[in-house]
Amino acid sequence: MTTQEQSPPSRSGATSESAPNGADRDYVHLPGTETAGAGQIGPTGRPMPVFPDPQPLAAHGPARIIAMCNQKGGVGKTTTTINLGAALAEVGRRVLLVDFDPQGALSVGLGVRANELDVTIYNLLVERGHDVRDVIQATATENLDVIPANIDLSAAEVQLVGEVAREQILARVLRPVMDDYDVIMIDCQPSLGLLTVNALTAAHGVVIPLECEFFAMRGVALLVETIEKITDRLNPRLQVDGILATMYDSRTLHSKEVVRSVVDHFGDQVFHTVISRTVKFPDATLAAEPITTYASTHASAASYRQLARELIARGGAA
Ligand SMILES: Nc1ncnc2c1ncn2[C@@H]1O[C@H](COP(=O)(O)OP(=O)(O)O)[C@@H](O)[C@H]1O
Ligand SMILES: [Mg+2]
Repeated sequence: MTTQEQSPPSRSGATSESAPNGADRDYVHLPGTETAGAGQIGPTGRPMPVFPDPQPLAAHGPARIIAMCNQKGGVGKTTTTINLGAALAEVGRRVLLVDFDPQGALSVGLGVRANELDVTIYNLLVERGHDVRDVIQATATENLDVIPANIDLSAAEVQLVGEVAREQILARVLRPVMDDYDVIMIDCQPSLGLLTVNALTAAHGVVIPLECEFFAMRGVALLVETIEKITDRLNPRLQVDGILATMYDSRTLHSKEVVRSVVDHFGDQVFHTVISRTVKFPDATLAAEPITTYASTHASAASYRQLARELIARGGAA
């Protein structure tokens, strides 16, 4: 998908909201990062709480597993997995990211040449006798590791159908390293097939990124229904950790309306933090780096740092 280049002066009258002073000041203080204004109304239309700085952890593990899930593509799952993961790692959490999409965008976005690997998450799922620690790779970011995926994973769905306890295979793969990490985040593929069911079965929580676009809510009912079924039948501990509005454009009334309707529908499940649309994210992906190092002082990095604080404050991570 294409990303919009942001050039503040080019306001198109039809979709833009006219600011009284005509300035695009929002690009200096991206919405969702206005910690200085804590207590004021945030971009989701609710008062912005203060999210305390996370305390250092005295000990690590066991991990809390979070599935990043939305069967729609291009909503910011991979971007959020990388950058929320990096922001958590930055505050001393030991983080493992699992690439669970055969497209391998998470691996590539972290600088792993996944297509050249002989052993990936695919082999851990379908073959016995592998040690998950041999597949885990360190990234350039301290405390941030990854289990890579490549196109091989596209065969797993079919191969696992006949397995015993086929929904629990990822949980079994991750079990040996649960005590090594504080957070394990699974970047799901855009489908509700068996791989995603495996992610939701392994997880304690699910984060649902929603793009601030007209059809954002389309398909979410089906996702929520899937989550409820999994809670019922396979994984009673599973909970929705939060719904994250991504690619928010504060210049458009439209973005605000989408966020408002999402909050009307999901209430407090919606994160106060929203992620703005900025070309910094695709740029960081091209550089194969998290935003927290690629553009450490940019507001887009601040927004994922804030999301990390909000997640911890909500109990979604240690
Ligand atoms: N907040 C954002 N602003 C601008 N572009 C973004 C943002 N988040 C993600 N993107 C870009 O949008 C595309 C899809 O995002 P991605 O995270 O890969 O979505 P998904 O994993 O849900 O398919 C990528 O090119 C990514 O760089
Ligand atoms: Mg993705």
